[in-house]
Amino acid sequence: MDISEIQEKLKSELEGFKSEMASASNLDDIARIRTRYTGSKSYTITALGNIGSLPREIRPAAGKEANSIKKEIEDLLEEKERYFKNIRFDADLRSQKPDLTLPAMKTHPGRRHIISQVIEEIEELFIGLGFEIAEGPEAETDYYNFEALNTPADHPARSLHDTFFISGKTLLRTQTSPVQIRYMEKHQPPIYIIAPGKVYRRDYDISHTPMFTQIEGLVVDKGINFGNLKWTLETFAHEIFGRERKVRLRPHYFPFTEPSAEVDVSCKICNGSGCRTCSNSGWLEVLGAGMVDPNLYKFVNYDPEQVNGFAFGMGIERIAMLKYGIDDIRLFYDNDLRFVRQF
Ligand code: PHE
Repeated sequence: MDISEIQEKLKSELEGFKSEMASASNLDDIARIRTRYTGSKSYTITALGNIGSLPREIRPAAGKEANSIKKEIEDLLEEKERYFKNIRFDADLRSQKPDLTLPAMKTHPGRRHIISQVIEEIEELFIGLGFEIAEGPEAETDYYNFEALNTPADHPARSLHDTFFISGKTLLRTQTSPVQIRYMEKHQPPIYIIAPGKVYRRDYDISHTPMFTQIEGLVVDKGINFGNLKWTLETFAHEIFGRERKVRLRPHYFPFTEPSAEVDVSCKICNGSGCRTCSNSGWLEVLGAGMVDPNLYKFVNYDPEQVNGFAFGMGIERIAMLKYGIDDIRLFYDNDLRFVRQF
């Protein structure tokens, strides 16, 4: 047997294969053709097996030829098979009608945390009043958290804060008030902002968690007075707690406001007559506020003769507790789904 004879036979094998492939019309045809042309009894495979019995000088050429034909056959089979599988897949999809009577899969969609919801509600309210939203870092410097807020190192108010220190002069902010300074440094009046964010204090009990949330408010403009502050806080209280709530301002002290006030809202549960939630006082404290102490303007290069303003700060967890009658602040962060899903 010489090489041209083998080549001839392999070539006619390939042609036979190709003409059968041309008339194949489904996966069964492909399976049948595959057995016939690549099975152990096929000519090509037999030829490959017999190479060893050929004269030495034609073995390499015969092997090469047989292998290349084998490969061509296999590639073509695979290609056609993929093609018919796609057709069958499409047909299957088309023939399957969904059974609309089957019970739906149970899903537990996530929802916004109650604190995020209250923040959003308060943001909406203040945006409606023309305020913008500002932000500041949670890892803060001593300068912004205390110094520039008129609270120098030896100031007694510092001890009230139970600060978490990070290193040197870096700390976790104990309040959102540093955003006041950061914002004033970068902007000129008129300023109407609120700044929501997390704050940190070393405290943990029924009414304190080491991380909690505040919303700071700051207004600086020409001719701002205490009446503007009172109106703003009343509007806030009525929108968030209900029109029938009364608002009361009590004199207080903050290093960065003068005069300062603590703001109470009449208790929703007893309607002001006194109950356990309001410790029989009829009032619930919801925020701190006051006129911006003119000393702050020195830190941000404003002229205290030209502008004045007011600021306020509220604890969001407190507001959510009063709004929804929640009596333990730690519930917000225990991640008990039975609690979280209620809102
Ligand atoms: N930063 C104060 C606190 O955390 C609240 C406050 C803000 C008071 C702005 C007055 C003005 O207690």
